Amino acid sequence: MNLILLGPPGAGKGTQAQRLEESHGLVQLSTGDMLRAAAAAGTAVGLRAKALMDAGNLVPDEVIAELIGDRLDQLDAGQGFILDGVPRTTAQADAIDAMLAQKGRRLDRVIELKVDDELLVERVTGRFTCANCGQGYHDKFKRPKDEGKCDVCGGTDFKRRSDDNEDAMRARLQVYYKQTAPLLDYYRARGKLHSVDGMADMEDVAREIETALKVA
Ligand code: AP5
Repeated sequence: MNLILLGPPGAGKGTQAQRLEESHGLVQLSTGDMLRAAAAAGTAVGLRAKALMDAGNLVPDEVIAELIGDRLDQLDAGQGFILDGVPRTTAQADAIDAMLAQKGRRLDRVIELKVDDELLVERVTGRFTCANCGQGYHDKFKRPKDEGKCDVCGGTDFKRRSDDNEDAMRARLQVYYKQTAPLLDYYRARGKLHSVDGMADMEDVAREIETALKVA
């Protein structure tokens, strides 16, 4: 099964992608994670991307096409994937379509997570992750069970993303509505789009996604 998770920043794409990885044995391909890894490694592409990301802007389509193309090439034949945070423009969607067609693969579903703007801002500005294993948390919605200690690895060091502040988030939302939201019609016209209420709690969102995956 090959999926796209589509939705504004903070909609829960990463959260649900991690669950789908575990429940369906899929590989999560997150362009945001790839770009942050490149920035942390100090590569030229990563450092250029970081400036754009911190301002809430998109990284150029050519950079994304190359990143995604490389990762799709590394998948074993038949290994299913979840695209998280990509495509974000019609040009990226066209490029992904072409890459998949060339590999004899197809997209099965595009799941849209719908969430109101004010909740998105609250989610993103409260988000943090374990610096050791990357497990995600939230100041209000998902605190570690033992305060200050990661539930998964026991790590005590946590970090926040440099673009998870209110100003950058408002810019990211504007970019989403202008450049990414048109993809909803793009995939609706191809009969691939299923919309899910991303305002519900995480378990309910996961259940709604499972239902959408069963629809023929
Ligand atoms: P990226 O890393 O993709 O970030 P994003 O799309 O802005 O999405 P987020 O990771 O912020 O949110 P999410 O939907 O994954 O939510 P999460 O599950 O974490 O991109 C960052 C930047 O990189 C972009 O701005 C751009 O510059 C660049 N970039 C990346 N891809 C690109 C591309 N293809 N083209 C061009 N540029 C690109 O959830 C958020 C929080 O809410 C968490 O704390 C979570 O615990 C909590 N939460 C989740 N679900 C629920 C729920 N149901 N109830 C309560 N809390 C919840």
